[in-house]
Amino acid sequence: MNQSVPGNWTPNSWQQKPAAQQPVYDDPSALAEVVGKLTSLPPLVTSWEIDKLRGQLAEAALGKAFLLQGGDCSENLDDCGSESIVRNLKVLMQMSLVLAFSSMKRVVRVGRFAGQYAKPRSSDTETRDGVTLPVYRGDIVNRSGFTPSERRPDPELLLRGYERAALTLNFIRALCSGGFADLHHPENWELGFMSESQNSLQFQRYREMVGQIGDSLRFMEAVHGMAISQLNSVDVFTSHEGLHLHYEQAQTRPVPRRTGHFNLSTHLPWIGERTRQLDGAHVEYFRGIKNPIGVKVGASMKPDDLLRLMDVLHPDNEPGRLTLIHRFGADKIADVLPSLIQAVQGSGKTVLWCCDPMHGNTVATDGGIKTRNYDTIVREITEAFAIHRGLGSILGGIHLELTGDDVTECVGGARGLKAADLSRAYKSVVDPRLNHEQAMEIAFLIADQLAVGRSTP
Ligand code: PEP
Ligand code: CO
Repeated sequence: MNQSVPGNWTPNSWQQKPAAQQPVYDDPSALAEVVGKLTSLPPLVTSWEIDKLRGQLAEAALGKAFLLQGGDCSENLDDCGSESIVRNLKVLMQMSLVLAFSSMKRVVRVGRFAGQYAKPRSSDTETRDGVTLPVYRGDIVNRSGFTPSERRPDPELLLRGYERAALTLNFIRALCSGGFADLHHPENWELGFMSESQNSLQFQRYREMVGQIGDSLRFMEAVHGMAISQLNSVDVFTSHEGLHLHYEQAQTRPVPRRTGHFNLSTHLPWIGERTRQLDGAHVEYFRGIKNPIGVKVGASMKPDDLLRLMDVLHPDNEPGRLTLIHRFGADKIADVLPSLIQAVQGSGKTVLWCCDPMHGNTVATDGGIKTRNYDTIVREITEAFAIHRGLGSILGGIHLELTGDDVTECVGGARGLKAADLSRAYKSVVDPRLNHEQAMEIAFLIADQLAVGRSTP
C-alpha cells in the first residue's frame, strides 16, 4: 500500500503550484460554487473497484495480464447516447476477446470514457480571420463553436460533464453485468456494419475465433456438467486525463475505514504529456491520491527526469500504482525508449509499460486535416514490443484512440483509406481515431505479438 501518505498534501495543495492548461474563469465565485456542489455529489466509482483495478494492473506489469485502454480522444456531451456508448463498448469487448484468446491472459479493459472531457491545447487562444478567442478546451470547459459566448469557460459545464459521466457509467455498468457481457453470446458485440465487411480478413478471423471460444465453453461445461455462469459479467474500468484540477479535486475524498484520499471520479486518471512538470500542480495533485495512475511519457523525457518523477509518484513501488504510457512517434521510439527502460530497470521499481502509438504520430494532410497513418501506428507498436522484449522488459498494455463508429479519421488500414476519403466521415473535433475496422486490425496485430511472447516464455 502507499506507505508515505504525504504529510503536507491535501486535495487542493496543487493550488500552490503552477498549473498548466487550466481555463481562466471570469467569475471565480461561480467556479467555487460549482466545485462545492461537485464535492457533495455522490462519487462515480468506489475504492473497491479502484483496488481491484490496481491489482489487475499489477498483474499486467508482470506480463500476466494485458491492459487495453481505449476510447475517444475527447468525449462530447451531446454524444452521450446509447448508440455511441454501446458501439465503443462493443469494440473494446471484441478487441479484448481477440487479445485474451491469443495470449491466454486476462485483458484489463479500461475505457477512455465517463469523464474524458478536458483537453490540453498547444495555445491558449485561436485566431480566425483576425478574430482571437479562447481556445476550445473540451466540453467540460467551453464549446467548440467559434463565438465569444461559446468559447467562454463556463463553470456549469463541470456539472454537466459530471452528470454525463454518471449517465455513461450507469449504462456501461448495466450492460456489463447483464446479458450483453455473456461470453456465450458474443454476437451481442457485433456491429451492424460488420456484416458489410463479411469478406474482410479480420472479420473472418474474428468469427472463427468466436466459434472456437463457443466450442471451448461448451467443452468445459460438458466436462463440469454445469454452465460457466461466472462469465456472464465482465469488468470495464474508466479512465481520463486528470487535467482539470478543480474537477478532480472536487471528487477526491477520504473513504471510511481506509487511509488516504481517492479520486472517485474515475478508476485510472492519468497525467498528460503537457502537464507532467515535476514542480507543477498536476504532479502535486496526483502524488497524494490512492488510485493507480498513468503518466504519458513523450520523446522529451530524460531518464533522470523519469526517475525523479517516479520518486514523487511511485515512492513505495506499490504494485499496480504506476503505468507509464509512452508516446514517442514511430521515428523516435528506437532512440528514446531503451534508455528509459534501462533507467526504470536500474531503479529496481516495477511499472506497467503501455504503448500509446497515436499521439506521437499525428500529422496534417496537404489540405490541413489532422490524421494518423495506420502503418505508422503499427510500426510504433511493433517496435515497442521488440524493444521491450530485447531489453528483458514487458510491454503490458496498449492505449488507443478509437471509436465503434465507422469514421474516416486515420488513413490506411485494410480498406486503404486515403487523405481524400477523410472528409467523408470525419467527426472528431480533436484527435483522429481508429475506426472499428482499423481497431480490430490492430487487435489482431497485437494478438500476434502476444502470441510470440507465449511461445518464448
Ligand atoms: C490524449 O491522450 O488525448 C493526449 C492529449 O495525449 P498526450 O498527453 O500524450 O499528448
Ligand atoms: Co488525443
